[in-house]
Amino acid sequence: MDKDDFSTFEKTTEEAPVDSTTRFDADPLIGSMLDGRYLVKRKLGHGGFGAVYLASDEKMMSRLVVVKALLDDRISSEWSVRKFKQEMEALARVDHPSIIGIFDSGQLDNGKPFLVMQYVDGASLRALIKPEGMDLTRAANIIRQIGRALSAAHDRGILHRDLKPENIMVQTLSDGEEQVKVIDFGVAKIKDSVLGSSTIGEQTVGTALYMSPEQLKAEPMTTASDVYCFAVMGYEMLTGRRPNNPDSAFQLLEMQRAGVRIKPRDLRPNLSPAADAILMKALSFDPNERYEKAREFGDALSTALLGEVDDPSEVTRVQAQKSPTLETAHVLFTDIVGYTTLLIDQQTDCLRKLQEIVTATEEFHRSRKERDLIRIPTGDGMALAFFDDPEAPVRCAMQISQAMRQSSCGFDLRMGIHSGLVYHIADINTNLNVAGGGINLAQRVMDCGDGGHIIVSKRVADDLGQLARWSEYLHDLGEVEVKHGLRVHVFNFYGDDFGNAARPSRVPASGSPLPIYKSKAAIAAVAFVLLLLVGAGVLMLLRPNATPQPPSRESTPPIGPEQSLTYWLTIQKMRNQKPEGEPIESAGDNIFGNGWRFRFNLRPAQSGALYLLNVGPGAAGVDEYNILFPIPQDGQPLPLDKVLDARLAAGQAVQLPRTEWYRFVDKTGVEKIWIIWSTVPVATLNTIFETAARNKDAPGVITNPEHIAQIQTLLKKYDEAPPESHTDKATKLTQVKGRGEVLVNLIQLSHEAY
Ligand SMILES: Nc1ncnc2c1ncn2[C@@H]1O[C@H](COP(=O)(O)OP(=O)(O)O)[C@@H](O)[C@H]1O
Ligand SMILES: [Mg+2]
Repeated sequence: MDKDDFSTFEKTTEEAPVDSTTRFDADPLIGSMLDGRYLVKRKLGHGGFGAVYLASDEKMMSRLVVVKALLDDRISSEWSVRKFKQEMEALARVDHPSIIGIFDSGQLDNGKPFLVMQYVDGASLRALIKPEGMDLTRAANIIRQIGRALSAAHDRGILHRDLKPENIMVQTLSDGEEQVKVIDFGVAKIKDSVLGSSTIGEQTVGTALYMSPEQLKAEPMTTASDVYCFAVMGYEMLTGRRPNNPDSAFQLLEMQRAGVRIKPRDLRPNLSPAADAILMKALSFDPNERYEKAREFGDALSTALLGEVDDPSEVTRVQAQKSPTLETAHVLFTDIVGYTTLLIDQQTDCLRKLQEIVTATEEFHRSRKERDLIRIPTGDGMALAFFDDPEAPVRCAMQISQAMRQSSCGFDLRMGIHSGLVYHIADINTNLNVAGGGINLAQRVMDCGDGGHIIVSKRVADDLGQLARWSEYLHDLGEVEVKHGLRVHVFNFYGDDFGNAARPSRVPASGSPLPIYKSKAAIAAVAFVLLLLVGAGVLMLLRPNATPQPPSRESTPPIGPEQSLTYWLTIQKMRNQKPEGEPIESAGDNIFGNGWRFRFNLRPAQSGALYLLNVGPGAAGVDEYNILFPIPQDGQPLPLDKVLDARLAAGQAVQLPRTEWYRFVDKTGVEKIWIIWSTVPVATLNTIFETAARNKDAPGVITNPEHIAQIQTLLKKYDEAPPESHTDKATKLTQVKGRGEVLVNLIQLSHEAY
């Protein structure tokens, strides 16, 4: 099926042959005179509701007009008759140079209604869109006119609801200027129609590929819905493709929900960041996040396209977004103590107060002004990520704490501060969010405290301790055990008028520091790492195959070719961030020290295709799917003209990452590496992996929900038919063996951060 073929949704418009004289039986209307006035010359097109003809008005100097008549089989449908009349009403209501003008209406001999409108001697916008995108000045001019036309209609209470390039005509005037005419109000929604309110339910109308999310969900539409369709057109005009190219309407909605993955600028680098940001805003899933007024959007975009804008205030939010790479954030994590025990309205009240207190701090103002701040709502508090200034979260926490003491806000707050790596992710609401170990660990650090505490990680304390002004406020608490058995080394940060000097309840009274590395037996219960793809490599520590699952005896063994592959690790021990000795080989059964680096090696016995995935908890506790192989270049997005190759020859070893090392970083949680080995490349996996490899916001991360669902289904195979896994201490290799076309094997990783 062609990707564009939404047979149940799309109205088709076929161009009729231009020379109708060669087709005698083409249409009985051709050659006839309507109302003794309009001589029908030829068909221009027809769609689901009407047929459109070119005619000459014999009472008006034979000027050319367009006659649109309701199709035969539609006359019986009350709904389509009504829609047809509404098109007349819509056109009669608005008088705008960029909206097609209506002249007349009437009835054919058989009672079918028709309407007469201006003829546009021009081309449809569809014909002007080039695969590489339109000339920017030309697009800017057209976009400005569309925006104004739509706003004129909106001001008159009319929603177009079927915006697509086929319904925009462009005419070249005698001076060479291009004039837009918006046509086809065939499914428009009219407020307070003279036809009275309909007794017939609204149907899902419009063209699926350009539909707004609310239209797809059959929810009420607003002017922002037209703005969305307009933005899809704008994206297509500028890049030659639509923002989402789904296989089904359902998938389209999911893609819309996930947010536009490929920014216009990725496809057309000479677009200004402002133009990019404006389009992305108009394509927001939530209508409230878009432009409300089509004119505002059209004007902003066309101005940005003409390069007349440096920094319009409405686009600063997305412009402020840091480049989608990994970077260190200085994170302040806050939450309201006992939040879940509050009543709902108390919760809202507390959150609002917290918001007020935080946003009123001097530090918040300063950082926001310098665009050094991203705010992440967390449910029972919020996290603030600062990027340039490691002292910023500490100052902010201090100011929040002071403000809390002065006001009686009726709740306790605890705070945690940590500096760590984060990466930017697209967020459906704000288009601006970050996730990663830096945030997760800040939360763990915060978990160590009680109400009023400001707890900072050792890393932050080390940084601050170098500055005399902070060292007196830092009090070493030693190591504290938090979730998943993770141990973090923390400091209590307090002074006379901020923080809480009391020993946090989680900190053992007389703590003999516990060993950092756990015994092997304890590891099963221990935290696993969150693996993070970085330009410099993937950071983690690994313990393979902690619990290899034997094949279930009851199940019938899978039929198919026997396959086997071998993997091993190359490990570089580290001490004080310096390599200790030469790299060693390992079957993966050893215990890893903090900061050690390793490479992952794999060699198949037969030829086939390898897909290697890392699954671990991302932000908000939701599993994140990172691809490890095939990837084009470690941590770099796949260029659009490149294709991934998963194939390996028999005996061909791969070493990952290719140029760097994987190593541990301050991340916690259950971490899994999945090997998917297939005798032949799997088309769906190729698509999924390529989409992820092109993911600019987080290269290598699978974010498409449908893709994740497909992967999950595939990984279930492991439970049904796990391969045999055998670790050989002598050869320092782990061998995986199984039967079937596809072999799925799980390797478990564990990590203890600090
Ligand atoms: N006023 C017009 N001037 C020139 N061509 C027109 C005009 N109106 C419609 N057309 C042509 O006829 C096609 C179908 O008309 P439209 O009003 O969009 O009806 P439908 O509801 O069938 O899509 C358009 O895509 C366009 O090519
Ligand atoms: Mg049309």
